[in-house]
Amino acid sequence: NDIPVLTIDGPSGAGKGTVSRAVSKILGWHYLDSGSIYRSLAVAVLDAGLDLNDVAKICAVAEAMSLEFECGDELVVRLNGGDISGRLATETTGNAASIIAAYPEVRAVLLQKQKDFQRLPGLVADGRDMGSVVFPEAKYKVYLTASAEERALRRYKQLIEKGIDANLPQITREIEERDRRDSQRASAPLTVPEGAHYIDSSSLSIQQVIDQVVNLVE
Ligand code: C5P
Repeated sequence: NDIPVLTIDGPSGAGKGTVSRAVSKILGWHYLDSGSIYRSLAVAVLDAGLDLNDVAKICAVAEAMSLEFECGDELVVRLNGGDISGRLATETTGNAASIIAAYPEVRAVLLQKQKDFQRLPGLVADGRDMGSVVFPEAKYKVYLTASAEERALRRYKQLIEKGIDANLPQITREIEERDRRDSQRASAPLTVPEGAHYIDSSSLSIQQVIDQVVNLVE
């Protein structure tokens, strides 16, 4: 189909969320925060008390779960009717998401749920494998990254702002660990998709990144 898609892939903390949301607003396009789909499943799996490596049960939970996204100023996510927005950003949720996301069976169940976001007039899709697996035909592709230190610092500030307790050295270790897991997994590893526009945001402001991405589309 010819509904335009802009994919923004990259490691955690590179600024994908902020940039994707801003760009989708400027373009008037829909927004898919695919990480929040993995995070929502992680919340469901943790609540069910499942082992994070029990693939069969995790897939069953993924198939049965109903997710609703409401994109206002703040993203509101409802899992089986209950508001879980406040639990998505925690490190516990992020780490669990990264563990279950390594299973190809889990990714397969979530694939169609992500493709369904492609609606007129267009979609900005943010994640790890948007340009490589979920929307390989996307018209516009961006790979957004930054150094691990810079990303850890940004995540740290984000958590503190939200009033969540945070420890910088620990976050740096967790970011490096998650990078390793996300880029070394066999199934849909984090890679620079073919034809993607590469942006290192370490020394750029958010506004500069947003401008570069919008220019790509306009
Ligand atoms: O981007 P975010 O930090 O919210 O993603 C949480 C985890 O979900 C990532 O560490 C990654 O393992 C997984 N993920 C994924 N594919 C995506 C988006 C997220 O595997 N498209």
